Amino acid sequence: MEPNPYIPKLAKIIQIKEEVRGARPVKTFRTQFLSENGFSFRCGQCAMLSIFGRGESMISISSSPLVEDYLQFSILKMGRVTSSLHDLQEGDIIGVRGPYGNGFPIEKWKGKNLIFIGGGIGIAPMWSVLHTALGKKEDYGKISLIYGARTSNDIVFKEELEELRKKIEVHLSIDVEEPEWKEFVGFVPINVLEKKPSPENAIAVTCGPPIMIKYVIQNLEALGFKDEQIFTTVENKMKCGIGKCGRCNIGLHYVCQDGPVYSWAELKNLPQEY
Ligand SMILES: Cc1cc2nc3c(=O)[nH]c(=O)nc-3n(C[C@H](O)[C@H](O)[C@H](O)COP(=O)(O)OP(=O)(O)OC[C@H]3O[C@@H](n4cnc5c(N)ncnc54)[C@H](O)[C@@H]3O)c2cc1C
Ligand code: FES
Repeated sequence: MEPNPYIPKLAKIIQIKEEVRGARPVKTFRTQFLSENGFSFRCGQCAMLSIFGRGESMISISSSPLVEDYLQFSILKMGRVTSSLHDLQEGDIIGVRGPYGNGFPIEKWKGKNLIFIGGGIGIAPMWSVLHTALGKKEDYGKISLIYGARTSNDIVFKEELEELRKKIEVHLSIDVEEPEWKEFVGFVPINVLEKKPSPENAIAVTCGPPIMIKYVIQNLEALGFKDEQIFTTVENKMKCGIGKCGRCNIGLHYVCQDGPVYSWAELKNLPQEY
C-alpha cells in the first residue's frame, strides 16, 4: 500500500535565529529529521510545516540542497500557524512533509550571469538557489543581488549579507530615508533601473510581494530582458500541497506541483490568478 502522503516526517528544531524584530518578525529555523529517511530537494522547492493541533503552512526551503546537515526555513509571522512556529523553542519537534513544487532550473543556467532581485521575506526561496549557485561558482558567470526591505530593521539575513558582499555584488535598499543608511532609498524596482543589470547572457530571478514582482519585471523588460530570462515564484495559498484540493490553481495549473517557480514567458500566458 502507498504510504499516506499527508503524514509528515518528524523533525527537531536545532537552531532558531531571530532575523527581524518588531511588527513583522521573521525567524530562521534549522531542523533535522528524527529518522534516517529525510528527503532530498531542489532549490526553490517548499515543505508543509505542521504544528500538532495548530495546522500546516507551506514554507520555502531556504537552505541549499548542497547542505546536508539541516533543512532551513525563514518564516514571517502572519497568522495562526506561523505565530505558533514563532513560539517554538530549540529542541521542539515539528512535522515536515514534502518536498513540493518544481524548483529552479538552475542546471540550465550554467555559464550565465545570475541576478537575484528580492524584497522582504521573498529572499527566502532565493537564498537557496543563490547559495547553490555560489557553491558551484565555477559553473556560473557573475552573480549579483539586489535586495530591499521596508526599513533597515526588516532586512532578513543581515549578517550573512555582509559576508556575501565579500563574494558578490550586493545592492541593498530601504523604502524610506533613515539617518544611518548609506545605500539606496526607494522601492526595489527603482533600484533595478538604477543598477541597470545587463540582460546579456543573463538570468534574473525575482521573489517578493506581487506588486514588487510586477514592477521589477516591467523594469527588467525596459532594460532589455526577454520573458524567458526572467524567473519568479508564485505563493498562491495552499492546503494539500500535492495536487488534490485545487486551492492553489491558476487556470489548469496546480501551483503546488507545476510551480511555484515560473519563467515570465510561462506565467504571462496564464490567467491572472496569482
Ligand atoms: C509556495 C509557498 C512558499 C512560501 N514560502 C514562505 C516562506 O519561505 N516564508 C514565509 O514566511 N512564508 C512563506 N509562504 C507564506 C506562508 O505559507 C503563509 O504566510 C502562511 O501559510 C500563513 O499561515 P498562518 O496560519 O500563519 O496565517 P493565516 O492565519 O492562515 O493567515 C494570516 C494572514 O496571512 C495571509 N496568508 C496566508 N497564506 C498566505 C499566502 N500563501 N500568501 C499570502 N498571504 C497569505 C492570510 O490571507 C491572512 O491575511 C509561502 C507560501 C507558499 C504558497
Ligand atoms: S494545494 Fe491542493 S492542489 Fe495545490
